Amino acid sequence: MTTVTIMPSGKTVDAVVGSTLLAAILAADSKIQHNCDGKATCGTCHIFVLEGRKGVSKIGREENEKLDSIVGVGSKSRLACQATLLGTEDVMLEVLSFR
Ligand code: FES
Repeated sequence: MTTVTIMPSGKTVDAVVGSTLLAAILAADSKIQHNCDGKATCGTCHIFVLEGRKGVSKIGREENEKLDSIVGVGSKSRLACQATLLGTEDVMLEVLSFR
């Protein structure tokens, strides 16, 4: 298990290693857009990983290509539906958009 802290609410959830950050966010009853349901095509699940970047999988080609098309992307940017927990470090992330 890995502890994931979700900002700006500060909610925490113990998530299973191998699960996506999107699954962790939803398990914490936090709201996040995920319009393509995890296919890396919509970019609405864009988040910032604030702490614990070594506890998250590396960016794959599809994720990288989608991030390249999003405004406001920075070095902490990930797609929550593509980034999975490695279990090596707890993670703090920031949800950027929600309805
Ligand atoms: S849910 Fe669409 S890119 Fe993540």
